[in-house]
Amino acid sequence: MLDLLVRNATLPDGRRGVGIAVEGGRIVEVREGLGVDATSAPAAHEVLDAAGLLVSAPFVDAHFHMDATLSYGLPRVNQSGTLLEGIALWGELKPQLTHEAIVERALAYCDWAVARGLLAIRSHVDVCDDRLLAVQALLDVKRRVAPYLDLQLVAFPQDGVLRSPHALTNLKRALAMGVDVVGGIPHFERTMAEGAESVRLLCELAALQGRLVDMHCDESDDPLSRHVETLAAETVRLGLQGRVTGSHLTSMHSMDNYYVSKLLPLLAEARLNVVANPLINITLQGRHDTYPKRRGMTRVPEQLAIGLTVAFGHDCVMDPWYSLGSGDMLEVAAMGLHVAQMTSQAAMRQCFDAVTTAPAGILQLEGYGLEPGNHADFVWLQAHDPVEAIRLRATRLAVYRRGRRIAATPLATASLALAGRPASVDFTLVR
Ligand code: FE2
Repeated sequence: MLDLLVRNATLPDGRRGVGIAVEGGRIVEVREGLGVDATSAPAAHEVLDAAGLLVSAPFVDAHFHMDATLSYGLPRVNQSGTLLEGIALWGELKPQLTHEAIVERALAYCDWAVARGLLAIRSHVDVCDDRLLAVQALLDVKRRVAPYLDLQLVAFPQDGVLRSPHALTNLKRALAMGVDVVGGIPHFERTMAEGAESVRLLCELAALQGRLVDMHCDESDDPLSRHVETLAAETVRLGLQGRVTGSHLTSMHSMDNYYVSKLLPLLAEARLNVVANPLINITLQGRHDTYPKRRGMTRVPEQLAIGLTVAFGHDCVMDPWYSLGSGDMLEVAAMGLHVAQMTSQAAMRQCFDAVTTAPAGILQLEGYGLEPGNHADFVWLQAHDPVEAIRLRATRLAVYRRGRRIAATPLATASLALAGRPASVDFTLVR
């Protein structure tokens, strides 16, 4: 007998009337028509009738800062709303952090994430505090949330691995303690040359230890910032193709078009992964502009067109850099869609991929996806397809992890329901 049978699901690839059979926390069969006839359906302890609605693999966030999340207003709010005041504010907050406070805020965020069907997060963790308080706290969180959520950690030298006195030593300590990925922030080093040097030494460290790389890279409006070029070149030199991620890459928005025409083939040669962070990029970039104001997000359609894997990350939720957000990756996808003007049907679907399959690939998640043999992790959404899911920031009717329901959100109801009209609000009616 099956543990769970999902029947009459629509999948993100457009297949309809699909059944998903689950045993021992894994998907054992996915087939159109499976379970459609209740009399011939395989026996199962639990049956979910998806009612023709979308069942997707879980949302994945490829770029987040869980050590800072939900700290908005501590010790004061960011008055200018800029990236640099945010970094300064984080510096003020760091000495006041406690292990317990970081853990409590991170666990609260993980509750939000799970309720939103967000079941895997790559979080950068600042290693510039010699106590490595945040590293210890997030390793603790990673262990505690593992039954519900995959938390992958990046050793992130927020103040610059060369600029901050003990950052390189601390970064290596963090890796030894169990942090997974090598991070960096070359545009925050003192000079362009030191930024390039930081990329070189961090990529060499990753190659030596067999680690993935994910750097905050060229997060500025500087059209002459060139760290993504160095990151791609080092990736090729060290044979790290496909294992390196450039996060933000906002300077590409402002670069000279001829230069970008030379840069893009290098990114393709390096099979560089890209993470844009639409909510943050549109908020923090272009802040020195009067009018016209640049959007600041990296060149997503052009990167997709050359075959790069591009994800949209949330980056921040209620922290020194961003006072909004709730762990809703559909909100992230919607902003990415608008900022990149990805409004064709195919491009809108790519925006859904950018918060599901693309980041899962970047994180190299094991057993991700709605295919037999993979983990029985999925989200039942109140939408008929990925585009409608983005339009509605669709309700996560149920969230499953390893075949077990771990979150549910009821349908909206309206107090204005009149006699003879249903009380539930079906935003999917207009099709
Ligand atoms: Fe970030």
